[in-house]
Amino acid sequence: MRKPNIAILGATGVVGREITRVVDELKIDFNEIKFLSSAKSAGTEIEFQGKRYIVEEAKPESFDGVNIVLASAGASTSKKFAPEIVKRGGVLIDNSSAFRMENDVPLVIAYVNDEDLKKHRGIIANPNCSTSQLMLVLKPLLDKAKITRLIVSTYQSVSGAGLAAINELTENTRAALANEEFENKCFKKPIAFNVIPQIDVFCENGYTKEEMKVVNETRKILHLGEDTRISCTAVRVPVYRGHSEAVDIEFDKEVTPEEVRELLENSFGVEVIDNPENYEYPTTCDAAGVNPVFVGRIRKNLAFDNGVSLWCVADNLLIGAALNTVRICQKVIEMNLY
Ligand SMILES: NC(=O)c1ccc[n+]([C@@H]2O[C@H](COP(=O)([O-])OP(=O)(O)OC[C@H]3O[C@@H](n4cnc5c(N)ncnc54)[C@H](OP(=O)(O)O)[C@@H]3O)[C@@H](O)[C@H]2O)c1
Repeated sequence: MRKPNIAILGATGVVGREITRVVDELKIDFNEIKFLSSAKSAGTEIEFQGKRYIVEEAKPESFDGVNIVLASAGASTSKKFAPEIVKRGGVLIDNSSAFRMENDVPLVIAYVNDEDLKKHRGIIANPNCSTSQLMLVLKPLLDKAKITRLIVSTYQSVSGAGLAAINELTENTRAALANEEFENKCFKKPIAFNVIPQIDVFCENGYTKEEMKVVNETRKILHLGEDTRISCTAVRVPVYRGHSEAVDIEFDKEVTPEEVRELLENSFGVEVIDNPENYEYPTTCDAAGVNPVFVGRIRKNLAFDNGVSLWCVADNLLIGAALNTVRICQKVIEMNLY
């Protein structure tokens, strides 16, 4: 099998650093690798697989000879460089929201809708972090019954908003404990000791863009029609790493909590921790830094006729971003799609 030349765009960011680590963890077999950032971090060093690399400022010619670009540098950077990458014959696997809902761009969670990768025309999108963890949970359930209603409530960590947001939680917490004034910049409200019911901007329908991403991306990835009704409330919590979700699912026929538990226990990428009588259920801390999506509190939903409720936690920087990006890269290589 031929080996691709790889570039990591946004290599110095929170997600980019994880992508670099996971490329090593998943033993991606590449020919050459390069690390790109903005002018700000250009010239810094990255140590990778025992070698030192100098981070380069991303320019159109940086993509000459590059087969696969793993990008986590924000939507405007992806929009700027995508045509340059595609023009040079490269494949862009993009973490930003720039192309996710475009018709000719596959939106993929590896091991959920790999077949969609075959339709790519140079750009493949990685879903939003809160959508991503949910897909590995819902996909196996769809083999049992159709989902008619889905209500998702998220509790999202600050790392989902990048390095500056992580620092803001630390500084805001220090200031709050010292009873000092603090000017929040990343979040609209203080994040220390607080819970904020807003992620991203508000849309005309009263939902935030983040909430609508969960609705629209879930539909696209799982190929669900309008007859599956989906609603989401996305909330920022003062946690560094790991997103949690309370999920209520209504099926078109009876599916018991026991059946859901069994399906998920046998699913790729999912780990069930569900013995509430022994206080065994997943918390955000269990998920930080590790690959599985953890599920617990699986129980009958009391508001729906054929409903199940569950709790799911995962590392937003891994399955929500870097891990899925690199798994997609692995599939693109295996399926010879570059
Ligand atoms: N954090 C998450 O959980 C998560 C999950 C899914 C998707 N994403 C998406 O991934 C992207 C990055 O997020 P992040 O949290 O890693 O942000 P971040 O920590 O702020 O890192 C941003 C990275 O992009 C680089 N960059 C910025 N402008 C650039 C430009 N004009 N040209 C080249 N490189 C540029 C930065 O380089 P410098 O060091 O030079 O500034 C840095 O390496 C965003 O699109 C975000 O929506 C994040």
